[in-house]
Amino acid sequence: MPDENEKRKKHDIAEDIMKRLSSEIEKRGIDADTILVGSLARGTALKNSDVDIFIRFSRNYERAKMERVGIELGFSIFPDATPKYAEHPYVSSVVKGTKVDIVPCYRIDFNTPKISSVDRTPLHTQYMKEKLTDKSIGEVILLKLFLRRQGIYGSELKTEGFSGYVCELLILHFGTFNNFMEHMSGLSGRLIIQDQVKEFHSPVVIVDPVDLSRNAGAAVSNDSLSILKTASKFFCLNPSEDYFYYDENENIEPVNHERGTYFLALVIERPDIIDDILFPQVHLMRRKLDEFAKIQSLPILNIFDHVEEKTVTILMEFASPALPSVEKKVGPPAGNMNVVSFIEKHIKSPDFVRGPFVENGRVIIEVRRKITQFRDIFMSNLENINFGKNLSRLKSGTSIIDNQEEIKKSYAYREFLSVKSPYLAAGKDLKK
Ligand code: CTP
Ligand code: MG
Repeated sequence: MPDENEKRKKHDIAEDIMKRLSSEIEKRGIDADTILVGSLARGTALKNSDVDIFIRFSRNYERAKMERVGIELGFSIFPDATPKYAEHPYVSSVVKGTKVDIVPCYRIDFNTPKISSVDRTPLHTQYMKEKLTDKSIGEVILLKLFLRRQGIYGSELKTEGFSGYVCELLILHFGTFNNFMEHMSGLSGRLIIQDQVKEFHSPVVIVDPVDLSRNAGAAVSNDSLSILKTASKFFCLNPSEDYFYYDENENIEPVNHERGTYFLALVIERPDIIDDILFPQVHLMRRKLDEFAKIQSLPILNIFDHVEEKTVTILMEFASPALPSVEKKVGPPAGNMNVVSFIEKHIKSPDFVRGPFVENGRVIIEVRRKITQFRDIFMSNLENINFGKNLSRLKSGTSIIDNQEEIKKSYAYREFLSVKSPYLAAGKDLKK
């Protein structure tokens, strides 16, 4: 939990930047103002929460101009910052160890429709400042810490978890962290709170009180919800402070059993794109490789993605390193006229090995398989596997590592072995 000094420091940073922004706005004669939003404004910040500063423009500005001037103002404070473009541009930098975002938006009130996707954010802050009490702020912080421990705090596409705003809405609805845990531990199916004006189909539905047509919980994946369901059951059985503990650099010592399996690591260069674009593509690439392995009848046990500063790795675990060198070609049912052409074709082939024979009413011929090693199967089929827009162009640089010793020294393998989600604080006791 952040201490008072930490909070003061962040508020000082925010005030200083807002003052400088306001004088830039005045100097340029722009109809806009600055506002502190996000968890710092609401008192629900964690120790390493960011500082979110918005510049609210009058609706008279055209969209392109609002964005351009907003970015220019951001750069006037952070000349070395990198502009970020998710669906909306903003400027981000780090001040005294704290991440600071400067985001342009339009000034709207509760009854005017939004223009850009972030226009509601100042309204969220206004709403929560009215609704949250000191007690509920404490409960929100507990919930954020609990979710962070489980790796499901944050609505970025990397995490697909619960945003800070969703945590606040959940506490407003359930009253306390414990009530919410009780609810989650007994929940089967989707988490739906509040009456829906519009029908939503995501695993978590929490209507945004500031915009009833929006599901604030849309980013939560079914897996993140399932992690919460599992973790809450254990918390309710044995509540412990360990569930709120979090250390970014915590080193979980992986247990390296002799797994008796075979690994391949497919490595590509990490493209220079923001996480919210990169991670969905990495997940797509992982799914496509998994599908490919299954279509090829490769005995795949696990597939895992791991992103580092310069590389994207997909780690695949198989029952064996290769397919048998004999392949059974399954022909048509014996009653089908094509049986004759099927047999003639394969019997004449230089790869013919054995047959024909009948199995379960179908004609079978065994032929020699030309490519048997999984590594070679992937290498020769890379072209046909969809890696997504930004990753496909890096495909030609793909390397496939099959040296088992090398793989076992990699971070990806270490991560794979130490995966624990949900993270059960009572894990040690459970094994007794
Ligand atoms: N926001 C939102 N939907 C998102 C992400 C952000 O509506 N998917 C809005 C919320 O109003 C949020 C603000 O943008 O409060 C700032 O976002 P962020 O910094 O991600 O969340 P915080 O609530 O500030 O929480 P944290 O403590 O993690 O910074
Ligand atoms: Mg924030």
